[in-house]
Amino acid sequence: MAFNVAIDGPAGAGKSTIAKSVAAELNFIYVDTGAMYRAIALYLIRNGIKADENAKISEKCKEAQVSIQYVDGKQVVLLNGEDVNPYIRTEEVGNMASASSTNPDVRAQLLDLQRDLAAKNDVIMDGRDIGTNILPGAQVKIYLTASIEVRAKRRYNELIAKGMECDLKEIEKDIAERDERDMNREIAPLKQAEDAVFLDTSDMGIEEVKNTIIDLIRSKQ
Ligand code: DC
Repeated sequence: MAFNVAIDGPAGAGKSTIAKSVAAELNFIYVDTGAMYRAIALYLIRNGIKADENAKISEKCKEAQVSIQYVDGKQVVLLNGEDVNPYIRTEEVGNMASASSTNPDVRAQLLDLQRDLAAKNDVIMDGRDIGTNILPGAQVKIYLTASIEVRAKRRYNELIAKGMECDLKEIEKDIAERDERDMNREIAPLKQAEDAVFLDTSDMGIEEVKNTIIDLIRSKQ
C-alpha cells in the first residue's frame, strides 16, 4: 500500500521547501497541490475572468485540463498539455488561485487527480485540505505554520533574492488576506486535522523542521 504524508498550512509556512527536501531524502514523490490550483487560476486570468465572477469560473474551469509529470524528480504542471511552471509563481496567480479555489467546481476538478497520485505512489502532498479532505487516511499528517510576520519576511527574502521589487508591508497584507480566505471558505477550508501534528516553524531552521518530519515518518513506516 502506498505511504501518504499530508502537509497542510497557510501561505508562506515553508511547506513546499520542506516537503520537497523530505521527499527527495525518502524517495517519495512530492505533490504540490497549490500548483494545480495555480494552473487553473492562470487559465482563468488568461481568459479575462475576474476573481469574483463565480459563475464564469465554474463554467471556464472545465476547459482547464490539469495534469502532472515528473521530470528529473521535479513536478511539472501541464495545463491543456502546456508546461505552465514558469508562469504560476506570481502574486497575481497566487491571489487568483486563493479566490478561485473557493469554487466547488474548481475543487471537484482536482480531487481525483490528487487522490489518484496518492493511491499509486508514496507521496508527500502539500496544500490546505490534504489531511482533512483529500487524504483523510494519510499515515502521517502535519500542520505546518509560522507567524504572519515570519512568513511575510521569508516571502520578501525569496522575492528579493530573485531580483524582484517588493514591499514587506504589502506582502504581510496579502498573506493576511489569503489566510482569511483560505481558512474561512465554505468548502474544505484550511484547518488542522484532528490527528495532525502541529509544527510552528517561526523559530525553527529548515534542517530542524526537515529532521522533525523525517523522524515522524520513520516512526510510522
Ligand atoms: O500553496 P499555494 O500558495 O501555491 O496555493 C495557492 C492557493 O491555492 C491557496 O491560496 C489556496 C489554494 N489551495 C487550496 O485551496 N487547496 C490546496 N490543497 C492547495 C492550494
